[in-house]
Amino acid sequence: GRLTAIVPAAGVGARAADGTGPKQYRPIAGTAMLVHTVRALLAEPRIDRVLVAVAPGDAQAANLLAGVARVQVLACGGATRYDSVANALAAAGLAGDDWVLVHDAARPGLPADALAALIDACLPDPVGGLLALPVADTVKRAGEGEAAPRVEATLSREHLWQAQTPQMFRAGLLSEAFARVRARGEAPTDEAGAVEALGARPLLVRGSFANLKVTWPQDFIWMEKWLG
Ligand code: CTP
Ligand code: MG
Repeated sequence: GRLTAIVPAAGVGARAADGTGPKQYRPIAGTAMLVHTVRALLAEPRIDRVLVAVAPGDAQAANLLAGVARVQVLACGGATRYDSVANALAAAGLAGDDWVLVHDAARPGLPADALAALIDACLPDPVGGLLALPVADTVKRAGEGEAAPRVEATLSREHLWQAQTPQMFRAGLLSEAFARVRARGEAPTDEAGAVEALGARPLLVRGSFANLKVTWPQDFIWMEKWLG
């Protein structure tokens, strides 16, 4: 089947807010974050097209990406990332065995080799998978509702991975997974979480630190260096 990328880009970027609007349009090394992200995907020849999900009424993505081959901007953004992706998937008109690769607009530093490794690993796999990084730091759980948080427990970092995107699954499996979590009233924060709700076990493919999700204002400083 074909390989379609979906880029959720309908967030408001509250944690990165600097008063200039959603983070995905802020320039990094002179080019809007979203444009870096879309270019990283288009550099992979096995990706047939890129669908960018933006908030209804948002004209910025369409302006930035006007005339770019293999790219379509859809005004199908929803209240959560999950809604934005589910709406784009429904609008994409895919066959069940087509592949979908979901990648955050907020991860403009995706290296070509990590993207290629994910696709290589998923294409022959019955489930699909995601980029992720083994947890390097010792992990603490804090107590609930404390003004000054204190450690309640130390978790073993063994076998723990931090999920990144892209996350790649067959369109049929992903639609079924989304229907399942919707019926349960859940809103998973990534595609793998929905697929896991079906009892399937996504592949973990080693990602890259450069693929960090630009979330806080200081993340722009690091990303300027990587992309500059
Ligand atoms: N996203 C989306 N639709 C939403 C919320 C988020 O398409 N309703 C997208 C964002 O644009 C981003 C990706 O999902 O590319 C990951 O989300 P995140 O980094 O949390 O971005 P924001 O939600 O914009 O940031 P914040 O949570 O700080 O407000
Ligand atoms: Mg968010």
